[in-house]
Amino acid sequence: MVILSEWLAAQLDKESAEPAYRQLLQLMQQAILTGRLAPGTKLPSSRTLAGDLGVARNTVLHVYDQLSAEGYVISTTGSGTYVADTRPDSAAVSTVAPAAAPADEEDDASGASRRGDMSMRGQRLIDEAGVSAKQWGAFMPGVPDVAEFPARTWSRLQARLWKSANHGLLTYAPGGGYRPLRRALSDYLRVARSVRCTPDQIIITTGIHQSIDLAVRLLADVGDRAWVEEPCYWGARSVLQSSGLKLTPIPVDDEGLNPREQDLRDPPRIALVTPSHQYPLGMVMSLARRRTLLEYARQHNVWIIEDDYDSEFRYGSRPLASLQGLDESDRVIYVGSLGKLLFPGLRIGYMVVPERLAATFRTGVAELYREGQLMQQAVLAEFIMDGYLTSHVRRMRTLYGERRQLLIDAVTRHFGDALPVMGDEAGLHFVLGLPEHADDRAVATAAYDAGVIVRPLAAYYSGRQDRKGLLTGYACVPHEEIAPAFATLAQVIEEHAFARPEKLRRAG
Ligand SMILES: Cc1ncc(COP(=O)(O)O)c(C=O)c1O
Repeated sequence: MVILSEWLAAQLDKESAEPAYRQLLQLMQQAILTGRLAPGTKLPSSRTLAGDLGVARNTVLHVYDQLSAEGYVISTTGSGTYVADTRPDSAAVSTVAPAAAPADEEDDASGASRRGDMSMRGQRLIDEAGVSAKQWGAFMPGVPDVAEFPARTWSRLQARLWKSANHGLLTYAPGGGYRPLRRALSDYLRVARSVRCTPDQIIITTGIHQSIDLAVRLLADVGDRAWVEEPCYWGARSVLQSSGLKLTPIPVDDEGLNPREQDLRDPPRIALVTPSHQYPLGMVMSLARRRTLLEYARQHNVWIIEDDYDSEFRYGSRPLASLQGLDESDRVIYVGSLGKLLFPGLRIGYMVVPERLAATFRTGVAELYREGQLMQQAVLAEFIMDGYLTSHVRRMRTLYGERRQLLIDAVTRHFGDALPVMGDEAGLHFVLGLPEHADDRAVATAAYDAGVIVRPLAAYYSGRQDRKGLLTGYACVPHEEIAPAFATLAQVIEEHAFARPEKLRRAG
């Protein structure tokens, strides 16, 4: 015991900001786990140890209590405190041979062995991740102007609701989300997006990512095939892929999804499409293609996931009707989000599912994600019912329309018609085409270094990239910042996208 007290006294740092109680507890736990204190060893009395260490007796008593509560020691009244036997049960541990280290295991910078730690799908998710470190600034695509969000209105509604907060708003959500919000959304979607639904068919989620995840878990099995548009949103691709689906990229043309003969011969379980505004290129799926896809889905039991992420912002004409509204066979799962209409960090989205699946999805969402955030949902419901959503969207459509025009003017001023602008009729971004030989990833990286965020089209392709370009967002850039930020981008483009053939010519 003398040895224990000596060892503890040598380790204890009385000058440290860490209280003596915490230090002593950690030291004794370490001594027991490493075997320095063997099972069965009797600990000195609290009075003796406190005296040896020069700490209050109460400190030692607290340490012994905690060690006893966590199972490190056993205290018997009258007979003292003994180290418990917590050595791993060797019979249980050695039942099967230990896993062999993978042959090509290698350590990454953090010291974790890559192949050993990660699943194959986890590793792929990380290797192909598209998420950006910056989420704000010129010309971040897909981000609305959060500075324009009517925060005071929101906080007034929220303050009022908190005054009457009760279990109905503060517990887990009943499957499917806050009922008045589902009613408000079904009214909104019927009018604004021609979606055919009742409040029962609406499931509130944390956004499109979660909606797709839920649909895949409930409707597909690992190994099933999913069609995705080529190019498509990397986030949706990641969700499908990491759920164990096999992805088939399907080409798109001016009329949207355009499956080839070989694609049609092998019907997928899921087809994920953006018919109202193809992401990222911006075309609209023609009525003929919509009808063909719906009929194909009916015949082959394909689930169509319609991602309707930003269709409210259409500048030349009224927003186009949803694919779901045309579906007579209940094959469409419609998913949308408030992220682009209000602000991305809100994390409230919704899905509209066929009536016969509504109860299944309500149970599924509650079972998998244990949803909550009813207070936020209640605020949103009031926000919609009081007409603020419609007026905010109307105001933002005008604002974003002006910014879009300013950015197009800046492109034309710098490049004439040398660089095409694609998919600018709707949404929060357009694609600025680059010359065929350009490396759009390199241009985006150089732009980032110069302080301008754009995304390379390359990031959205999983196969051969048939055009080069940059996703350029205008919605979150104040009018007066558009021209100077584009001047920076234009310089980067001139240096990186036009320079190569010059060099090649010289080299040749
Ligand atoms: C096509 C598309 N779908 C979905 C999302 C993300 O939706 P959410 O934020 O609701 O998960 C994005 C975000 O940029 C997107 O571009």
